[in-house]
Amino acid sequence: MLSKVGEPGSNQATFFEVLGGVEKVRELVERFYDIMDSDPKAAGIRALHPADLTSSREKLFMFLTGWSGGPQLYIERYGHPMLRRRHLPFTIGEAERDQWMYCMVRAMHDNGIEQPVMLKLTEALWDVADFMRNRPPT
Ligand code: HEM
Repeated sequence: MLSKVGEPGSNQATFFEVLGGVEKVRELVERFYDIMDSDPKAAGIRALHPADLTSSREKLFMFLTGWSGGPQLYIERYGHPMLRRRHLPFTIGEAERDQWMYCMVRAMHDNGIEQPVMLKLTEALWDVADFMRNRPPT
């Protein structure tokens, strides 16, 4: 079973290890943005992002690598993520959260991530995505 993500001193595997390292995190993020960029169901959140997704891809890759228990690439480059604050310029409600999770779940599925891992990762990322909400439910 997976421990809490990146918990120092834990002898249980982190998401980073279970996923299979940087290449797998990279592939997941690439697939995630390919889906966001092409699936009409994600059009709402696609419109919030820049036309060129290169930097979005790089930043999410760096962030998720550290968040999942791998090297802290994002923090080394940009400092503390302050993720919620960085999302405040964008209106994020339940619909946006759900579109983000939709892209992520599809990406995990397309990349063949095993179901038990997928379930745990979905649960953990849902908490982060829900925390990004800055518009109350209507
Ligand atoms: C809940 C729905 C979400 C929406 C609509 C959303 C949207 C956005 C937008 C529009 C940006 C700015 C453009 C960019 O730099 O790509 C951004 C940045 C970012 N997002 Fe999200 N996001 C969501 C959830 C998340 C989650 C759950 C994570 C992490 C697990 C995340 C990680 C990031 C990171 C690392 C950045 C770059 C921050 C920076 O350094 O500027 N986002 N997001």
